[in-house]
Amino acid sequence: MTRLTNCILKKDHSCVPIWFMRQAGRYLPEFRKIRSKNKDFIKLCLNSNLSSKITLQPLSRFNLDAAIIFSDILMVPYALGQKVEFKKNKGPDLSSFDLKHFLKNDKKKFIYKLNPVYEAIKLTRKKLNKSKSLISFIGAPWTLAVYMFGLKKGKDQINKDKFKKKEKEIKIVLETLIDYLCAHIINQHKAGADVVQIFDSWAGLVPKNKLFNYCYEPNRKIVDFCKKKKIPTICFPRGIKTNYKNFAEKVNPDCLNLDYNIDPVWAKNNLKNFCLQGGMNPRILFKKEVEIFKEVDKYLNVFKNHPYIFNLGHGLLPKTNPHILQKVVKRVNSFK
Ligand code: CP3
Repeated sequence: MTRLTNCILKKDHSCVPIWFMRQAGRYLPEFRKIRSKNKDFIKLCLNSNLSSKITLQPLSRFNLDAAIIFSDILMVPYALGQKVEFKKNKGPDLSSFDLKHFLKNDKKKFIYKLNPVYEAIKLTRKKLNKSKSLISFIGAPWTLAVYMFGLKKGKDQINKDKFKKKEKEIKIVLETLIDYLCAHIINQHKAGADVVQIFDSWAGLVPKNKLFNYCYEPNRKIVDFCKKKKIPTICFPRGIKTNYKNFAEKVNPDCLNLDYNIDPVWAKNNLKNFCLQGGMNPRILFKKEVEIFKEVDKYLNVFKNHPYIFNLGHGLLPKTNPHILQKVVKRVNSFK
């Protein structure tokens, strides 16, 4: 067991493991250098050697407890036949969704297309110290559907008309995705990943009366599958506020990642039986050092006697200073 799996599975709170969402990414000059020579982001994710190299970059700088494989949640829609592009300052751009095409997919072809991800995991596991975890991930069905159907209006709102118009199709897609996502998880696990994080980044956009069907149920089915396969799960239903408690009870993952709108004291009191991860606003890292440390210490102290993994309430932002991050890692590593 690693420090991370020990904390997640054994609920061991004698140490605080640490890693960061988006730790392999644009805030690192060594990543930007590779990225500038590889304009096609999907192709970069499918380059097993480079993907493995990028995965290990943050670990050669910082004393982290886990690597997270360099890939993207949108590799799944890509492998299911949708064209996925990442345009500068615009975010992901997917070709329009076609249900007939989507339903013609088969698992064999899907896994074949994602094989470079599994090769990248194998390569990384060989190079990674045994004391470190290697985290695999997927996007939860709802969050993938948000991108596949283009359900967002502006930065963080749902296009209600489109949602209503497409609701029947969305239901079919959510159900179908579960199978593909479980296949992606098991293949990542077999390749050497020892934990899976399930990103429901847009759970906050699910209409409240549909949370059960669109968020809890799909997550629960995937978590149940992982339990059968003995793969530790970290769920991240971002933006659902105090429904974190309902989510935890219905889905029952091994660990929950808090978003930065969740009060850590509330979380500690209401999510008692769960290992917790993250929570701190990534924007705090733009503040002065004293203020950063104050916030880091707040999370460390609130969760002192609780199984807790240090991380953030969302991914690291591109403008984050790696030297500041180094100081945060050292502070967490030396906390007793
Ligand atoms: O965490 C890591 O370091 C591992 C790699 C990773 C990426 N994306 C690489 C990436 C992980 C775990 C993700 C997850 C992901 N991707 C999520 C869930 C987490 C979250 O942030 O809510 C989501 C919603 C996506 C979809 C996605 N991919 C978006 C919206 C974007 C563009 C804007 C952005 O956030 O960067 C991406 C592109 C992307 N994925 C980049 C990286 C390093 C930037 C690509 C670039 O260099 O332009």
